Amino acid sequence: MEVIITKDRSEASQYVAEMFMNVLALKDRPVLGLATGGTPKGVYGRLIDAYTRGEITFHHALSFNLDEYLGLGKDDEQGYARYMKENLFQFVDFKSENTHIPNGKAPDPEKECARYSDLIHAQGGIDIQLLGIGDNGHIGFNEPAKTFKRHTHIVELDEKTREANARFFDKKDDVPFKAITMGIGEIMQSRRIVLLALGEHKAEIMERFLGTEDIDPELPASILHAHQHVTVVMDEAAAKNYRKGEKHEATD
Ligand code: F6R
Repeated sequence: MEVIITKDRSEASQYVAEMFMNVLALKDRPVLGLATGGTPKGVYGRLIDAYTRGEITFHHALSFNLDEYLGLGKDDEQGYARYMKENLFQFVDFKSENTHIPNGKAPDPEKECARYSDLIHAQGGIDIQLLGIGDNGHIGFNEPAKTFKRHTHIVELDEKTREANARFFDKKDDVPFKAITMGIGEIMQSRRIVLLALGEHKAEIMERFLGTEDIDPELPASILHAHQHVTVVMDEAAAKNYRKGEKHEATD
């Protein structure tokens, strides 16, 4: 596992954006795995800037988002379809039929999970997957549990997750109790994974995650220790408690 520590969140976002730009430039049909939440916003900002400068295009790319709240659909303000539109899609030249997000409003959510899994597999899996990390170690919405779930599935959100995400809603009570999330199998089949962690509030979970190579479904991110091609990018604040191994400086 490669660990990159940057001086601040801006450098970390730039570093990750450049990883995505390389995939966009090198592949005929790049499949991007995308995340939502606070963490990736700077990455998307830099991708928009690069697109605006004419340096990259998304016209040949496909995307799969990690997750969506159950009950929220493409027009809901707090839904992830809306987030993606507002933070990336409306500013770049992705073909709308090539961007995929689980439909939290599907009449048969189980069927929607199977459809989403099949679609990822039909496209040959993901070339580069962007991940944030929850305070409880979740990736996507794969919450701490007794076992890992392989495929896209419905998950009950942890109270910690609902609390952390309450900031995106008017009040905590509005945060849905369930979500659809890509499974650990689909995430692990990505050819390359980049986990981005920004800010001091991520220092504790990053210490737990990087402090041991044991794989434990109670710390879902720990499965990444079994992947061949993971890059962890942290700003200095998130890396505050990280002592293992050497520090790498990001270059712009
Ligand atoms: C978002 C996602 C989550 C977030 C995680 C961190 O699509 O799958 O795993 O990456 O909850 O959220 P932020 O970035 O808001 O701290």
